[in-house]
Amino acid sequence: MRLKDKIAIVTGGGVENGIGRAIVRAFAKEGADVCIADINDSLAKEAAEEVEKAGQRALAIKCDISKLKDIDHTVNAVLEEWKRIDILVNNAGIARFKPFLQVSPELTRKIWSVNLFGTFFMSQRVARHMVKRAKSIGYKPGDPATGKIINLSSLSEEVGTPLLSHYSTTKGGIKIMTKCMALELAEYGIRVNAIGPGIVDTSIATDFFAIKENYDAATERIPLKYHATGKDIAGAAVFLASSESDYITGTTIMVDGGLTAQ
Ligand SMILES: NC(=O)c1ccc[n+]([C@@H]2O[C@H](COP(=O)([O-])OP(=O)(O)OC[C@H]3O[C@@H](n4cnc5c(N)ncnc54)[C@H](O)[C@@H]3O)[C@@H](O)[C@H]2O)c1
Repeated sequence: MRLKDKIAIVTGGGVENGIGRAIVRAFAKEGADVCIADINDSLAKEAAEEVEKAGQRALAIKCDISKLKDIDHTVNAVLEEWKRIDILVNNAGIARFKPFLQVSPELTRKIWSVNLFGTFFMSQRVARHMVKRAKSIGYKPGDPATGKIINLSSLSEEVGTPLLSHYSTTKGGIKIMTKCMALELAEYGIRVNAIGPGIVDTSIATDFFAIKENYDAATERIPLKYHATGKDIAGAAVFLASSESDYITGTTIMVDGGLTAQ
């Protein structure tokens, strides 16, 4: 029970085989109460039921993280219900495979609004609450962390990925966003880190990986020679959310089967 009595928000934690859902599941198993904030209401409810079955409290909130009013609604609802937020996982993200020369402004704006704007302002709103709490308890260096923010980045923050220039730009942004937030929030005891998944079999790239040659070519690039599942990523999320990682801030843990080691 490494997250006993902790209160967490996981964005995009709805879809069954997604990374977010695996994180929700792992957090509940470790004793956290979890708010699932997802654009898909019924998936969020499904995830909440799973958390409750595991014996923890859950809150399902319909939230499009590219909309500030949804972000504020989510944060306020959690504070109203549970009075506190200890952990935020900025997991919700979207991607579409497109050659750079064909990417449209509309698609790019959409992906940047979810992946960058959403991650940035969800973090800001939650951090404001965490800072207030840190001040009220008189946090000083060396005390346990007052809050954990975990951003889902990607191998794409580190290496160029063909057909994903518009998406990879957001992950490069998340890398530096993570460092900036870590620096500004350190004095309040808030730790900010990212996870960089490699290739995970979820619905984000179903169409692309339904083509066998694409799937096999991707597998061939991975030194460990297999794709990850959400569970592989959730372990890093539990570690970053727990007190075991209190001396880590401003970094990305790559969980990529060795992809970025090459
Ligand atoms: N799957 C991979 O190979 C991979 C690799 C590297 C990084 N990532 C990152 O991991 C994160 C999760 O990816 P995944 O593969 O589990 O995706 P997924 O498509 O399986 O799940 C995404 C979840 O986010 C929700 N969502 C989508 N748009 C939203 C919005 N605007 N507001 C709130 N919720 C929204 C969806 O309903 C869904 O529940 C993303 O940030 C992604 O960029 C994934």
